[in-house]
Amino acid sequence: MAISSKASTRTSAFVPLVLCLALLACQIEGGLAKGHRRGGRPRLPGRGPVARPAPNPGTIFNVLQFGAKPGSRLSQAQAFMKTWRAACDFDGIATVVVPPGVFTLAETVFQGPCRNPPLSPITFQIQGTMKAVADPSEYSDKSWISFEHVDGLVLTGPGTIDGSGPDVWKYNDCHTNSNCELLPASLYLNDVKNAKIRGVTSVNSMGFHMHVTNSANIRINGVHIFAPADSPNTDGMHISRSYAVRVSKAVIRTGDDCISLGQGATNINVSRVTCGPGHGISVGSLGKLPDEQDVTGVNVRNCTMAGTTNGIRIKTWPGSAPSKATGMLFSNIVMDNVHFPIIIDQNYGTHSDKPSLVKISDITYEDIKGTAASEVAVELDCSPGAPCDNVKFTNINLQPTINTMRLSATCANANVGYEGMQFPPPCLPPHP
Ligand SMILES: *[C@@H]1O[C@H](CO)[C@@H](O)[C@H](O)[C@H]1NC(C)=O
Ligand SMILES: *[C@@H]1O[C@H](CO)[C@@H](O)[C@H](O)[C@H]1NC(C)=O
Repeated sequence: MAISSKASTRTSAFVPLVLCLALLACQIEGGLAKGHRRGGRPRLPGRGPVARPAPNPGTIFNVLQFGAKPGSRLSQAQAFMKTWRAACDFDGIATVVVPPGVFTLAETVFQGPCRNPPLSPITFQIQGTMKAVADPSEYSDKSWISFEHVDGLVLTGPGTIDGSGPDVWKYNDCHTNSNCELLPASLYLNDVKNAKIRGVTSVNSMGFHMHVTNSANIRINGVHIFAPADSPNTDGMHISRSYAVRVSKAVIRTGDDCISLGQGATNINVSRVTCGPGHGISVGSLGKLPDEQDVTGVNVRNCTMAGTTNGIRIKTWPGSAPSKATGMLFSNIVMDNVHFPIIIDQNYGTHSDKPSLVKISDITYEDIKGTAASEVAVELDCSPGAPCDNVKFTNINLQPTINTMRLSATCANANVGYEGMQFPPPCLPPHP
């Protein structure tokens, strides 16, 4: 790392920097104060440090101070990582600031553990734009910007992370190759605890926009995620092997799943998210690998699917090892011209003679309303090797987008109970 060579640049730029930092300190204080007002809704009791914004930004670590140059076409990753290192090693309240301007970045890893005091998360405020180097060979791993082994993080906007996807999507061959390498995710959280991501915009990721794994107690609020409807595998968020993740008030328009919950997703709440275009909210795909962890405790509430292919989908691979997907509530979901509003597909992915052994149970769909664009609005294609148990439909009111069409429901290997209004009518026979 070129740390020493940058030291002289830093000294000569010292005077303007002090001024600059003073200004930024005000800006960020303003920003946090605003966030505080907006965050006036009730918090869950007994939660960690992320529930409260830091009362003050503490010491500011501005990327300019560490040699980052806005507007340059060269990667500024070294300067960004040096800034992070200083903030992470700082024994006090620290805020990293990415000021206005466009910063080009190749693979950038922000690694902990950090010395931030307990209850004082490191704040990382993006005011400007972080833009990915549009060359997949620059990325050794599956990610562009990563946070790893961090306990206590607040990542805020109002800035943008721009994955430069339009320049690299041509390298994605997943439509022809089921073992394809995914392009890097824009924001990758691995082994992160007590984090809050708020007001960030992510556009045109190469692969997933956000990928959260091996993490716990993560709040994602008010993010905007945008990529074209035909962009490949640009999932809005993929969450796996993580506990206690809450996503609220997001707008997600992508070419793939809006939010997907992979193996080991437990205690996940999604609310007030608007999806579309894209493939809707998915649990899965599950059962592709041996030894997958179960998915348990998923609540999806107060969401809107607008023009998505699927609404709520659970998908598992045939020929899988045994695992469970259980305890899910999908409540108050508005479907607006959605092709397949409710679908369980246990024959997802490549074909196999063996059934899926992912056991799906205790799934409730309640207050699902709106319009469907295909005849089979509800399709439960459960596995003969592990039939779906205790699937409940309460107050389902789906009408066809085109009113000459009649909607129907189909079920295979599913034990389903009904309550309240049912459009389409219950599938017959109700169990295998
Ligand atoms: C999710 O919602 C349930 C039920 O409302 C609640 O008990 C749980 O604590 C919530 N979890 C998170 C991570 O928000
Ligand atoms: C969902 O909406 C209902 C009705 O507006 C509200 O009472 C409830 O608190 C909301 N839940 C979430 C998790 O947003």
